[in-house]
Amino acid sequence: MFSEEIENALNEQLNEEFFSWYTYLAMSSYFKTLNLDGFSRWMSKQAQREMMHAMKIYEFLHEREGGIMFRQINEPPPEWDSPLAAAELAYLHEQEASGRINRLVDLAMSDHAHATSTFLQWFVNEQVEEEARLRSIVKKLELIGEDRYGLFLIDRDMG
Ligand code: FEO
Repeated sequence: MFSEEIENALNEQLNEEFFSWYTYLAMSSYFKTLNLDGFSRWMSKQAQREMMHAMKIYEFLHEREGGIMFRQINEPPPEWDSPLAAAELAYLHEQEASGRINRLVDLAMSDHAHATSTFLQWFVNEQVEEEARLRSIVKKLELIGEDRYGLFLIDRDMG
């Protein structure tokens, strides 16, 4: 059983994971329109990871007899100014996701919800990897600047 506050907070996070899935799918589509197939495939995989995160929370809520509250998923932008702008936004998005997970852990600990706190540790570790992956892409794109051949090479590597 969950306290009402934790049940609500987990459902909020469930919705955020769906929003992340939606956002990265939109980015994958954006990269496809630029013929950056490597970036597109990578973002599509990232979107799948977000769906997996959402389903982990969904299963956990069910396992502990929590309610599932389906909410409206916010609309992601249809395009970005550049591949770098998209990657920067994804990196920022992951940093914000880490902040939300940390606040959830704080809430679980202050509520002595040990099972929830233990469950969330997986997400804490996952966020370290997610941030590192996106930071690496941002740095590479910053490095090449306007060099289109450099972009071609990164796209090939990401594919
Ligand atoms: Fe579900 Fe990318 O954090």
